[in-house]
Amino acid sequence: MSGNPIGPDVSAGAAAEVSASADPADLLGAWLPENDDPVRPLMTLSTVSASGYPDARTVLLSEFDDSGFYFHTDSRSRKVADVTANPRVALTLIWPGRQLVVQGDATRAPQEERSWAYEHRSRYLQVLAWLNTPEFAALPLERRLAEWAEFSHAHPHPAPPVTWDGFVVRPVRLTFWEGNPETASRRTEFQRTPSGWSTAILAG
Ligand SMILES: Cc1cc2nc3c(=O)[nH]c(=O)nc-3n(C[C@H](O)[C@H](O)[C@H](O)COP(=O)(O)O)c2cc1C
Repeated sequence: MSGNPIGPDVSAGAAAEVSASADPADLLGAWLPENDDPVRPLMTLSTVSASGYPDARTVLLSEFDDSGFYFHTDSRSRKVADVTANPRVALTLIWPGRQLVVQGDATRAPQEERSWAYEHRSRYLQVLAWLNTPEFAALPLERRLAEWAEFSHAHPHPAPPVTWDGFVVRPVRLTFWEGNPETASRRTEFQRTPSGWSTAILAG
């Protein structure tokens, strides 16, 4: 562990510094795990509601490709209402010594991708997608345990519920933050332009 007061551990960022001339797609390839890696990164998904208040919550990065960053959720959720009212969102991913902040536009993921993502969710998360309702949450613990066990037993390979939803965030701005225990942290920012990406180096 380093003595840097920002973040849990900035020592990991010291070795390979982001170059301003790098292709952001290459950087994302290096920073993000493969899509078939069962350990998924966590992202803080920030949205702005129709009333103008920001909100934020943790979601899994299900997948990343040339279209952007995918997350999956329940179509009845608050975040889906927010994204429907205002597709401009932010994603924050953090690792020891690194942070990636994405601003972008969320659109509904294609049907095939949503099915792929459900199939690749753990069994626990597949069941959760069915039972994660306000009615279920309001039940006493014994009922929640019993109904969970009953559903799991009756549905060894559940299909996605109709409420299974997914979005892809197409980035318009990518900010790569790197810590360095021996000097100041700094950010390399890529802004989408009609002709490609413009780059800026910013203080951390
Ligand atoms: C570690 C972790 C991972 C989570 N992953 C997801 C996810 O991938 N999709 C999701 O809808 N909710 C996920 N949640 C739950 C959300 O943070 C949130 O509580 C829920 O989706 C309701 O959010 P909303 O009311 O703002 O829509 C996760 C929570 C935690 C703590």
